[in-house]
Amino acid sequence: MNTPTLPRTPARPLSIVTGSSRGLGRAVVEQLLARGHHVLALARAKTELPAPPGATLEAWQVDLADAAPVAERLAAWLQAQDAAACSAVNLINNAGVVSTPAPLAQGDLAELANALRVGLEAPMLLSAAFLRATAGWGCPRKLMLVSSGLGRRAMAGSASYCAAKAGMDHLARVLALEEATQPNGARVVSLAPGVIDTDMQVQLRSADAARFPERTRFQGLKDGGQLDSPHEAAAKLLRALDRADYGSNPVSDVRELA
Ligand SMILES: NC(=O)c1ccc[n+]([C@@H]2O[C@H](COP(=O)([O-])OP(=O)(O)OC[C@H]3O[C@@H](n4cnc5c(N)ncnc54)[C@H](OP(=O)(O)O)[C@@H]3O)[C@@H](O)[C@H]2O)c1
Repeated sequence: MNTPTLPRTPARPLSIVTGSSRGLGRAVVEQLLARGHHVLALARAKTELPAPPGATLEAWQVDLADAAPVAERLAAWLQAQDAAACSAVNLINNAGVVSTPAPLAQGDLAELANALRVGLEAPMLLSAAFLRATAGWGCPRKLMLVSSGLGRRAMAGSASYCAAKAGMDHLARVLALEEATQPNGARVVSLAPGVIDTDMQVQLRSADAARFPERTRFQGLKDGGQLDSPHEAAAKLLRALDRADYGSNPVSDVRELA
């Protein structure tokens, strides 16, 4: 007698998103779930969103200021996935931190270190885990680092943030070279997402103007209605991820994409 074969679940995309509890990351998770992704969401607060039929959300409450154990956990989690059941796999390193705006010499040392750890060390370690654990997977592999125009333009009062984002951009250039030599290498982009109406902008607008000369510029962007909503920014970010030429320019800006 023939053993009946169970119908195989159709392959679906798998996406990992950091900084998923609010702001841009939460909107990205919401839109990925609407597309039927299996999403792993990472932040200190729990990411709570409804998953429509066909989509699934797994949320980890983790502190990316201590990223090494999170990267190890991510590698083990990816190794336990059924790669054949994934139609695509993405890591979106979105979590970021602005330390209290002020000249470096006046900055709080713990805050400065935290901004570098969450903004640069964590994306590097999570990227290492992702690239290693998915190296043998046959589906398209995409890595995104959510950068900023401030990785490319220096802004007084924001040394830790500018340094983290500039480091992220150069990390993307290196990873793109490395992955280009690999069979089914990951496509890597460090993407500036535009200016977005989130808590991060509130923090910049509430800064001490005496220690942060550009505070008025950020207030002007808000007053002039020039901020994207998290929903709009997430849609732009995912349009960039969908592009056929994703990865052809490892340092990119949504405002420069047609
Ligand atoms: N907003 C803008 O105008 C703008 C412009 C250019 C680039 N960006 C970039 O876009 C990304 C998202 O920014 P956003 O504006 O959405 O920021 P946000 O509203 O401040 O949200 C930051 C996210 O990062 C998470 N996060 C912070 N510290 C963390 C930690 N130690 N461990 C784990 N998660 C942590 C937060 O979650 P928990 O607090 O729950 O941990 C939150 O989900 C960032 O990389 C930012 O640099 C933003």
